[in-house]
Amino acid sequence: MERILVTGGLGFIGSNFVRHILGSTKTFEIINVDYVGPSSNPANLDSLRGDLHYSFVKGSISNPRLCQKVVGKADFIVNFAAETHVDRSIGAPNPFLESNVIGTFNLLEASRQTDIKKIIHVSTDEVYGSIDSGSFNEESPLNPSSPYSATKAAGDMMAKAWYATYRVPVVILRCTNNFGPYQHPEKFIPKAIIRALRGLPIPLYGGGQQVRDWIYVEDFCTAIQHSLDRGEPGEIYNVSAGNELTNREVAQSVLEKLGKPSSMIADTEDRPGHDFRYSLSSNKARRKLHWRPLKTMREALALTVDWYLANRKWWNSLASFKVLSPQPWKEKW
Ligand SMILES: NC(=O)c1ccc[n+]([C@@H]2O[C@H](COP(=O)([O-])OP(=O)(O)OC[C@H]3O[C@@H](n4cnc5c(N)ncnc54)[C@H](O)[C@@H]3O)[C@@H](O)[C@H]2O)c1
Repeated sequence: MERILVTGGLGFIGSNFVRHILGSTKTFEIINVDYVGPSSNPANLDSLRGDLHYSFVKGSISNPRLCQKVVGKADFIVNFAAETHVDRSIGAPNPFLESNVIGTFNLLEASRQTDIKKIIHVSTDEVYGSIDSGSFNEESPLNPSSPYSATKAAGDMMAKAWYATYRVPVVILRCTNNFGPYQHPEKFIPKAIIRALRGLPIPLYGGGQQVRDWIYVEDFCTAIQHSLDRGEPGEIYNVSAGNELTNREVAQSVLEKLGKPSSMIADTEDRPGHDFRYSLSSNKARRKLHWRPLKTMREALALTVDWYLANRKWWNSLASFKVLSPQPWKEKW
């Protein structure tokens, strides 16, 4: 049986991916390595307790010895492990270097000494920076504007170089904003849902006119699965579902679904370095990976709001005053 080493599998996308793979096939074993950081939640994979196809190792990919040990046991790697909260990266960038740069380096170096079949390096549209009109393709230059996106861009650059120099078989996926079940309450959509349920105003930075392209997490998990089968080592694939909306439109849809008035939206000061619009062309992924998203934005948002309504126990203790802060980049993390 083939083994996938998943890093960061206790986080939002990683835990959805582990459930997605083990729910759709029994041909893989999964080893999940996670250092159980602030955005992780062991409860995300409670349903896998006792599953013989799943094992967990607590540790950080910033530890080279741990990387060598776990990479040596794997046929494939899907690298989700990263510090991901842009607002936190503004006040405290150091951990972003540890996980997103040193961690990626350690995985690539450990893979160089094995005959790993494929590494899927999970990256983000944020490495391209903002675009006023049109969409970025895989050849577009990188132009990151936050410590988060700069460290993700550094990881991508190393992945490209380790393929060019050592033929480490890395595939880079750059995806747009994910949403869905198990996303930490500090991220935009869960925060909007939870604040609305608690009767608190929904803060929108800088007028809420920023545009993001949203994808349902299950659709991204399918794209990752397709890239394990069909992704060409050394190649980059943009993954997007074509749901470009302003933050104000998303907040309004959440409030509408909850039956709350749009007067709950409250404008706040903008955060530094806030990109105005992200947009990706995913033509290459659709053509070469034979992938397409299956959920419409409307369906996916309804499923997400319903999940948060049904799982208050999961989020209630995570949703502290600080996590739900209207200006999180000003908090001490
Ligand atoms: N969420 C999005 O909208 C989005 C969009 C595009 C790309 N991505 C990328 O997808 C990946 C997963 O994102 P997410 O939203 O699930 O993030 P998340 O913050 O929910 O999860 C990240 C997980 O990685 C773990 N981790 C962090 N540093 C680690 C380290 N050094 N060693 C081991 N584990 C470590 C954390 O404990 C956490 O469980 C990230 O690489 C992110 O850059 C996310």
